[in-house]
Amino acid sequence: MYASFRSIGAFIPQTVRTNQWFVDRMDTSDEWITKRTGISERRIALKEQHTSDLGTEAAKIAINRASIEKEEIDLIICATISPDYLCMPSTACIIADKLGIKNVMALDISAACTGFVYALSVAKAFIESGMKKNVLIIGAEKLSSIVDYTDRTTCMLFGDGAGAAIISMTDKKEDAIIDVQCSSDGGLKDLLLTPGIQSEEASFMQMKGNETFKVAVRTLTSDVRLILERNKMTNDDIDLFIPHQANYRIIKAVGDALNFKEEQKVVTVNKYGNTSSASIPMAINKCYEDGTLKSGEVILLDAFGGGLTWGSALVKFMGK
Ligand code: ACO
Repeated sequence: MYASFRSIGAFIPQTVRTNQWFVDRMDTSDEWITKRTGISERRIALKEQHTSDLGTEAAKIAINRASIEKEEIDLIICATISPDYLCMPSTACIIADKLGIKNVMALDISAACTGFVYALSVAKAFIESGMKKNVLIIGAEKLSSIVDYTDRTTCMLFGDGAGAAIISMTDKKEDAIIDVQCSSDGGLKDLLLTPGIQSEEASFMQMKGNETFKVAVRTLTSDVRLILERNKMTNDDIDLFIPHQANYRIIKAVGDALNFKEEQKVVTVNKYGNTSSASIPMAINKCYEDGTLKSGEVILLDAFGGGLTWGSALVKFMGK
């Protein structure tokens, strides 16, 4: 049995927050933000919208596009670092409830910006082992709830949003997800963290941006080399290279080091900012909706985030 990437969906919050919003509130400029990050604007969820709401809306679209009944879903995985609740209940359980899916295995994954690739890996393993048939994977984030808006070095980077996909069992090898590989190094935990219950301070995201940047470029590049090599593939076998959208300079450095052509590289960070686990599925969805991604094409996903975690995936996109 094989796992097939059957559909994609996303929810993009309506409220646009431009760089001017930050310029009005702190010592920064549109020029600095654009030049250093490539970000012009990001989307912000409403106060009453929680991560599960964003994830539920993305999931509805993915389920609809997969042409399956929600009752056929037997596993729900939500990757998030901005869950509705601290520790429990999981955001996946809340999404299951909001979708009206009962008695389903539901769990969250905490792998920061690599969350969607980790979720894909888990979904693939469950399907290939024969334990599950239709897995709903979601990357959903309300990062505006964990961003420190007094820290000008991080706050302008992040946005809110969600993406979701249905991964289904198939007996056709030619429709299968080709490969997923994930990794981590907890020794680098201090580069990017939210103190949480270890701290008496409000729990906002903290990042050593400059050091993180360098590790990001290194791991994103080596990830791609590794997964292409072990599958005996080259850049020419890839229709779209969809890296985690953290910073345009990172995408450019990695894309150039790997010799990807301009038309292969997908960039959404300018419009959405960094939406952590949601960034890759939101980018896949954008390509699907604007027609740059067609059924049967091969996408290369490449992610990096807090943990530190990193991972890549070679995926035959089978959305209709
Ligand atoms: N406006 C104006 N100046 C600023 C701002 C700002 N918003 N922020 C920082 N500066 C200043 C700094 O104080 C510093 O000034 P100094 O030279 O006088 O000391 C100068 O700009 C340069 O600061 P750096 O931190 O070296 O800037 P850098 O070029 O590294 O860009 C950034 C910072 C954008 C954060 C970058 O390092 C980055 O993108 N890092 C990686 C982020 C990432 O990939 N994270 C992982 C995924 S996120 C996740 O997992 C949740």
